[in-house]
Amino acid sequence: MREELLAQARGCAELGSPMYAELLARAADDPGGAVAGVLDGRPEPASVLRMLGTVHRLVLEGRAPDLAAHYPTAGGTADPLAAWPAFRAVLAEHAAEIREGLGDPPQTNEVGRASPLVGGLLSVAAATGLPVRLLELGASAGLNLRADHFRFRHGSGAYGPESPVVLEDAWRGLPPVDAPLAIAERLGCDPSPLDPAAPDAQRLLLSYVWPDQAARVERLRAAFEVAARVPATVVRAGAADFLADLAPEPGVATVVWHSTMWAYLGEDEAARLRGHVERAGAAATPDAPVAHLSFEGRVPSRLDATQVVTLRLWPDGGETVLGQGPAHGLPLTWF
Ligand SMILES: C[S@@+](CC[C@H](N)C(=O)[O-])C[C@H]1O[C@@H](n2cnc3c(N)ncnc32)[C@H](O)[C@@H]1O
Repeated sequence: MREELLAQARGCAELGSPMYAELLARAADDPGGAVAGVLDGRPEPASVLRMLGTVHRLVLEGRAPDLAAHYPTAGGTADPLAAWPAFRAVLAEHAAEIREGLGDPPQTNEVGRASPLVGGLLSVAAATGLPVRLLELGASAGLNLRADHFRFRHGSGAYGPESPVVLEDAWRGLPPVDAPLAIAERLGCDPSPLDPAAPDAQRLLLSYVWPDQAARVERLRAAFEVAARVPATVVRAGAADFLADLAPEPGVATVVWHSTMWAYLGEDEAARLRGHVERAGAAATPDAPVAHLSFEGRVPSRLDATQVVTLRLWPDGGETVLGQGPAHGLPLTWF
């Protein structure tokens, strides 16, 4: 447990959350303490993420005022690195509720992953010249179904419209930014879809963002604004069921997209999903192409701090690795 927590502390440090790095390092050196009691022998990354998320939700709900004083997302100004005693107290006081939360799927909807998504869509647009029918698997609140309404800043300028969502340092190297990108349909699925207009859902999504990462918090809040004016639908379904009738459609490029989702699939569902995409791909024509675009770990069934953008495009079915970046999507390096 100690080694696992220390490894995750290093991961948080690398991904830019000194606060969570410090809390997990302190937890690692608290054997038999509050964290060990809550995790109950399950220190794998998903459980730790859920534990941190539930504590953050308690803070955002106003139920942990001493800890809130350290959490910038709740207006806290006290030193985040000094949060450990209050954090430990919350774990002890709310142990049962936090333990219960370990079974819930994490509900991050990371707006930074619009960076690999839009770059990949530009590649599809460049190759096909067609508008996109965007189908997202594991869409959560569907924030990235509106990714073409975000602005992407990069070394030589910016791409996209003026927007409340501005992704700084989105791209190193450029995707084909001159390709005409139009999204004709925005549809997603998730076993636990969230309504981006509902305050409870917004709090839940915010709870999975690391509290000292101001830029992520800001872009999430800005994406709620975009979602309020750009309609998109997320239906309640697992990925394989959602794609059961997948077929190409003339006049549009059908793009199946997912990010940080594959690790949550069982083997059976993953196999069915692959089968549905292959079958639709086999039926694709130049006027009705099908694409499978993903931003997942190098071994997709495992969560990884680095993820790769992979595009498979039919009718020819060729696969290209387009780029890679940190799991939160920024900055995305295009190959
Ligand atoms: C880490 S979140 C990522 C959300 C979003 N794709 C993003 O990149 O911000 C994983 C998402 O996968 C969803 N999920 C879990 N099992 C799934 C399944 N069998 N089919 C589709 N989505 C699933 C979860 O509900 C959750 O919204």
